[in-house]
Amino acid sequence: MANTGGSAIGAMEGQGFYNRHSSMQAAGNAVALDIWEKAARSVKFGDEPLAIADYGSSQGHNSMQPIATAIRILRERAGSDRAVQVIHTDLPSNDFASLFKALEEDPASYMARASGIFPSAIGRTYFEPLMPPETIHLGWNSWTIQWLSRVPVHAPDHIFLNRSASSDIRDAVSKQQALDWRLFLTLRAGELRPDGRLLSLFPGKLPDRTGWEWLTGELWEALNDMRRDGPFSDDEILRITVPTAPRSLADIHAPFQEDGGLFAGLAIEHAEILPGPDVHWKDFERTGDAAGLARSWTGMMRAFSAPTITNCLDPKRDRAALVGELYDRLAERIAANPQRHEHFIAVVLLHKL
Ligand SMILES: C[S@@+](CC[C@H](N)C(=O)[O-])C[C@H]1O[C@@H](n2cnc3c(N)ncnc32)[C@H](O)[C@@H]1O
Repeated sequence: MANTGGSAIGAMEGQGFYNRHSSMQAAGNAVALDIWEKAARSVKFGDEPLAIADYGSSQGHNSMQPIATAIRILRERAGSDRAVQVIHTDLPSNDFASLFKALEEDPASYMARASGIFPSAIGRTYFEPLMPPETIHLGWNSWTIQWLSRVPVHAPDHIFLNRSASSDIRDAVSKQQALDWRLFLTLRAGELRPDGRLLSLFPGKLPDRTGWEWLTGELWEALNDMRRDGPFSDDEILRITVPTAPRSLADIHAPFQEDGGLFAGLAIEHAEILPGPDVHWKDFERTGDAAGLARSWTGMMRAFSAPTITNCLDPKRDRAALVGELYDRLAERIAANPQRHEHFIAVVLLHKL
């Protein structure tokens, strides 16, 4: 089995920080809601309690709308008092306290004014089995599978491995991504009930464009500034790796090419790569507030990458101060060079036959 537990991969920035700085991801999730609704309308069930899994929930805020939508549609079909179980999963290091707080207090919580809904959470990597066989009707999985299960290699020339100039390094990433995609699909296929659906949304790439150049490039340059000014050595810079990477349509389809369109009993019902919304650009155009734009994008970058970067540093150093300085420098760089954030979203709906 793939290993994540002992690796440098961290969950999102805690104390609810990810919930407050993930409007880009929320806007991406909204793009997939039509397809998710279609899945909820078509999945077959009997008179059993209905089970929805949320694979990689983080702190929960961005799950509220998709889960509420699924519950509404399933209950329109099954009756308004049908028991629904919702199982959120994430890494053991995830800030589950914020998730449970959001279930109670977030105005968008699917628990608001609801009865007969039973939420729970599992703190374990999804590169292991998480649920009993054939128990899940609908699986939601957003913005997680870009995280590799392990760091396959370190790159001397970028913090994001797919940005390295070395084709050997990029190949190592592609190999790990292919293994991870197959393992993730195989495990989820075992957990879905026959006719169940799994929606997976993650950063996509086009044959000639990967997106993310600007923000990932500025983070790399901020690290290099710190190397130049002293706080980080070459060796530390080599070890600081955020193991995330986008997938192409060909990557998504690859496992399904071998057995008449099926993989592990799953068929692709929908797969596309769409331009991702830039949630901050309109405000910037209206106000010209480069510092505000920098705060917004630095928050997003920090929310997903700071714990992993912290884990890459020697615990004997003042890691909080170093990481704080890194994101201050990132904010300065973004404010000095405001751009549109180009990115792409892959939306994949899988059907268990
Ligand atoms: C960017 S957040 C996405 C949160 C939420 N689904 C959303 O749409 O905003 C990515 C989440 O994936 C989780 N994650 C990464 N690798 C994982 C793994 N192997 N098993 C479970 N969760 C994982 C991270 O801990 C993090 O909470």
